Amino acid sequence: MKDGAIVRVPLIAGNWKMFKTATEAEETTSQLIRLVSDVENVEIMIAPPFTALSIVAGLTKDSRVDLGAQNLHWAKEGAFTGEISAAMLVSAGCKYVIVGHSERRQYFGETDHTVNQKIHAASLSGLVPILCVGETEMQRDEKKTFSVLDKQIENGLEGLTFDALHPLVVAYEPVWAIGTGKSATPDQVQEVHLYLRNLIEKMFGNILAKATRILYGGSVKPDNVSELMALPDVDGALVGGASLQADSFSKIIHF
Ligand code: 13P
Repeated sequence: MKDGAIVRVPLIAGNWKMFKTATEAEETTSQLIRLVSDVENVEIMIAPPFTALSIVAGLTKDSRVDLGAQNLHWAKEGAFTGEISAAMLVSAGCKYVIVGHSERRQYFGETDHTVNQKIHAASLSGLVPILCVGETEMQRDEKKTFSVLDKQIENGLEGLTFDALHPLVVAYEPVWAIGTGKSATPDQVQEVHLYLRNLIEKMFGNILAKATRILYGGSVKPDNVSELMALPDVDGALVGGASLQADSFSKIIHF
């Protein structure tokens, strides 16, 4: 995607959620690496569960595929049973970390405040944060989409600077489109992505707004990815279900 002098290389990211043992992850990753060896000018990321990071890191090290994590804790280290720090993710080979996915907000009590702490921790350690935002069906019906997004972006990025957020990835994932087979329409997606880019411009200026990749997530499949990727403010996709099989994820990557 081209916007003035700044070129945003598309990013197609797979969020494997709580799927795949290490052995299953190893098999899918090996297949995927073979299937995408011809891909140029697209960045590819997979975020397996923590228990598969190490095996996937070994496989992806010299490949076209980058590694991401699905979550992190904001503290450097400490007595936080069950949590994983940014430094641990970096040492496991991660380049990206997904922050504030709606499933974490919905089921694990994440708030804009904890999301903000996590973005600070990620950027301090050199991880590229993928900040997830999006409205529920009820919020859309009540015409609250843009006020919800304002709050998620403004609070989620509070206290951060241009330098800390360069690079930044934002994922617009309307909650009603996740895992439902009901993707947002191209018009809805473009309207929100442009809104988000303008909001980032207001907060951090034109350069960061143009450099930030805004991904769409929510029922992205091989048969709807190309119309989504053709939209001017869509710079990639965050894919759940269709990233679990190497062949369907590869088709999406070959949009
Ligand atoms: P689906 O692609 O399964 O709708 O999931 C989207 C998602 O939540 C990616 O983070």
